[in-house]
Amino acid sequence: MTGNVELIIDGRTLNLPTTVGSEGEVGIDIATLRNQTGCITLDPGYGNTGSCESAITFIDGETGILRYRGYDISELAEKSTFIETAYLLIYGELPTRPQLAEFSELLSENQMLHEDMRHLFNGFPPTAHPMAILSAMINAASSYHPNIINKREERFPWHAARLISQVRTIAAYSYRKAHGLPTIYPKTNLKYTANFLHMMFSHPGEDCELKPEIVKALDLIFLLHADHEQNCSTSTVRMVASSRANLFASASAGVCALWGPLHGGANQAVLEMLEEIHSEGDDGSKFLNEVKNKVGNRRLMGFGHRVYKNFDPRAVIIKQQCDKVLGQLHKSDPLLDIAKKLEEIALHDDYFISRKLYPNVDFYSGIIMRAIGIPMDMFTVMFAIGRMPGWIANYKEVMEDPDSRIARPRQIYTGATRRTYQPLDARV
Ligand code: ACO
Repeated sequence: MTGNVELIIDGRTLNLPTTVGSEGEVGIDIATLRNQTGCITLDPGYGNTGSCESAITFIDGETGILRYRGYDISELAEKSTFIETAYLLIYGELPTRPQLAEFSELLSENQMLHEDMRHLFNGFPPTAHPMAILSAMINAASSYHPNIINKREERFPWHAARLISQVRTIAAYSYRKAHGLPTIYPKTNLKYTANFLHMMFSHPGEDCELKPEIVKALDLIFLLHADHEQNCSTSTVRMVASSRANLFASASAGVCALWGPLHGGANQAVLEMLEEIHSEGDDGSKFLNEVKNKVGNRRLMGFGHRVYKNFDPRAVIIKQQCDKVLGQLHKSDPLLDIAKKLEEIALHDDYFISRKLYPNVDFYSGIIMRAIGIPMDMFTVMFAIGRMPGWIANYKEVMEDPDSRIARPRQIYTGATRRTYQPLDARV
C-alpha cells in the first residue's frame, strides 16, 4: 500500500510518498529529501530508520509479537523443527513432505567440508575464539566452490543448503580443535541437530548418547534464533550483499557482527555475569545496585532490547524450556537461581521498569546450553548456527529485489574545516 505525507521543512512543504506494511507500519520515503532540501536525516543507531522492505519476519516490540512469514514464534516452537523453519524462512512457505525431504537430502549431501579445510583449522592457535574460526572458515569454504563466488543463481538452493549444513560442521570442528580433540565426521543417518551433537561430543569408536530431550532443546534454541528482522548482524549481511558479494562472504560478515556482547555475544556475557555474581556470594542485589548506579557502566546482560519494550516472546519460551531441560536431566544450577532472582528484582525495580528493560532471548539460553554441555565460548556460535537461515533469507531478498542498490549511508561531517598543510618544523 502507498500514500503520501506532507513534511514542512524551513517553511517549505514537501509531499513525500509513504509505504504501508502489511501490519500497518508506515515508512516515509525520503529518497528525494536531499535533492529537494539539501538536508539528510540523522539517526545514529537507526532507531527510526527503515533500511528495506522485507516479507520475512514481523516484530511488534510494544506487544511482544514475533512471527516468521506470518507464523507466531510460539506455534513454530511447539510444532515445527529448526530445519522446517529454515525452509519456511528462506522459501516463504512451510515445505510439503517432498520439499522437506529434498531439502534434508541437500543438507546431508553438503555436510562434509572439503578435506583440505582441515589444514586451515590447524592454522588457528588453541586460544582462538570459535567465532573467529567460524567467520574465517565460512568465508574460506566458498573458495572450494567457484560457483558460490560466481553466484550462479540457479544454484542458490544448493548454496543455501551447503551453508546451513556446513556452518554446523565448521562449528563442531572448531570446538574439537580448540579442545585438542580428534575431528568427528557427520553421519548421514542423523538429523541436523542430532548430527551436530554427535560431531561435538562423540569420540572415534564411541558415539555419544543422543538424549531426545537434549536434541529437542537445542533444536528449539536454533529455531528461536532463526531470524529477527533488521538486527545488527542481519543488517550487516544485507549491507554486504548489497555490494553483490557472495552468500558465504555476506554470512561471514554477519558472524562478526553477531559476536559483539551487545548482540549475540550477550549469551556468553550473561553466563560470565552469573558466574561472577555466584563466585562473590552475592544473590544479585549488590550487582543490580552497581548496574543502576552505572558503576563501571555495568549492564544487566540479557536484559533490554532495541525493539521489545514489553517482553521478548523468545525469552518466555526459553525460560520454560530451561526449567524443563534441567528437570529432565535431573540437574539443578545455582546460576539459574541467581538468574531468576535477578529477573524478579529487576521486573519490580523502577530503573528497569521506567526504561522498559525485560529479559531477552539471551538471559536463559546460556543456562540450557550449559546444562547440555556446550562450553561457554561456543554459545554465540550456537546463535550463529540458528541465525543462518534468517541471514540466507535476507540475502535472497536483497538479490531478488530489482530495485536493490548498494547500501551507502551519508554522514554529517563534524571534523576540521579546510586547513593547509604545515611543514614538520612549523608544527607546535
Ligand atoms: N542493563 C542496564 N541498563 C540498561 C540495559 C541493561 N541491560 N540496557 C539498557 N539500559 C539502559 C541504558 O543504560 C540507558 O539508560 P539511560 O537512559 O539512563 O542512559 C537506557 O537503558 C537505554 O539504553 P540504550 O543503550 O540506549 O538502549 P539500546 O536500545 O541502544 O540498546 C541493548 C539495546 C544493546 C540490547 C541494551 O539493552 C543492552 O546493552 N542490553 C544488554 C546486552 C544484551 O543483552 N544484548 C542482547 C540483545 S538481544 C540480541 O541481540 C539477541
